[in-house]
Amino acid sequence: MEPVEKRADLIKIPTAPGGVLQTVPVEPGQRILNSEIKVELCEVDDATRIAEGLYTCFPEVWWARMEPPEIRPPSLQTRVTRLTTRIRPTFSNPNMKWIKAVLTASNEIVGVAGWMGPNNPIKNIWSRSAQSFYGWDKQNNWTEDEIEEMWKGASEAWDVQIEKDEKLRADLMGDEPHWYLAPLFVWPQYQGKGVGKLLLDWAIKQADATDPVTPLYLESMPNARALYMHVGFVPQGGRTFIRRGPAIVRGLEAEEDKDVTKEGNAVLEI
Ligand SMILES: CC(C)(COP(=O)(O)OP(=O)(O)OC[C@H]1O[C@@H](n2cnc3c(N)ncnc32)[C@H](O)[C@@H]1OP(=O)(O)O)[C@@H](O)C(=O)NCCC(=O)NCCS
Repeated sequence: MEPVEKRADLIKIPTAPGGVLQTVPVEPGQRILNSEIKVELCEVDDATRIAEGLYTCFPEVWWARMEPPEIRPPSLQTRVTRLTTRIRPTFSNPNMKWIKAVLTASNEIVGVAGWMGPNNPIKNIWSRSAQSFYGWDKQNNWTEDEIEEMWKGASEAWDVQIEKDEKLRADLMGDEPHWYLAPLFVWPQYQGKGVGKLLLDWAIKQADATDPVTPLYLESMPNARALYMHVGFVPQGGRTFIRRGPAIVRGLEAEEDKDVTKEGNAVLEI
């Protein structure tokens, strides 16, 4: 079925510090047609493209915290190689579903989502401790030196943030099975054309097909909040969003409709 040529109603969210631009609804005419793109499971050999995409699509302000310029290697290729080494073993987890959006004409991967399925325990694949938790170190016979090499250039913030997020997720979800999204990205030249929505829909459709519906959980970057709200994710405070079936979720525009001034609204945390 071809997508509906309709512009979504704008959801407004507060401008993030640093003037980070928010996503806006897809303009009809800009949308990539369903016949031009396919969504499928990644293969382990896509790990390099995934690593490249993470460096290309996530803003430098984010990378500066995770891989501070003063400790990162000068070559981007080295960073890609190290990140690829950390991504590859995640493919051995049957619950981890790497999804790619691929242009049918060229086979170019233009967007990726990492969906952890509802049968997995709460353990973020991105943390250092995930390697022993999932047994990837033994599986690959990694030496201490090899492990040190693949983590070189990554700051403490990497694990601190992940552990904080993980604890909050455990508090909010407990034992309740849920989908967990990390990461989602679309190459810049293909953003705003409906690709991200296709990658979200892949899991949303499955989640909504269960009885009761399966919740989906994510931590949002400041720029993407409205996009998640558009597909029914409800902000939980901070960076956390949960979706429990379809929902209409509104942003600051709801307050404006009520004639409340923008200044009167709480600024959402990022
Ligand atoms: C965030 C990102 C993945 C979005 O991908 P994208 O392909 O540009 O997103 P889409 O064009 O598919 O838009 C997603 C949907 O949200 C809607 N949307 C976006 N902003 C909206 C807004 N402010 N109000 C209402 N709807 C909005 C779009 O209209 C679209 O829905 P539709 O298909 O029903 O019309 C992409 O911008 C990106 O990679 N950014 C850098 C990395 C990043 O920040 N990732 C998010 C990490 S949490």
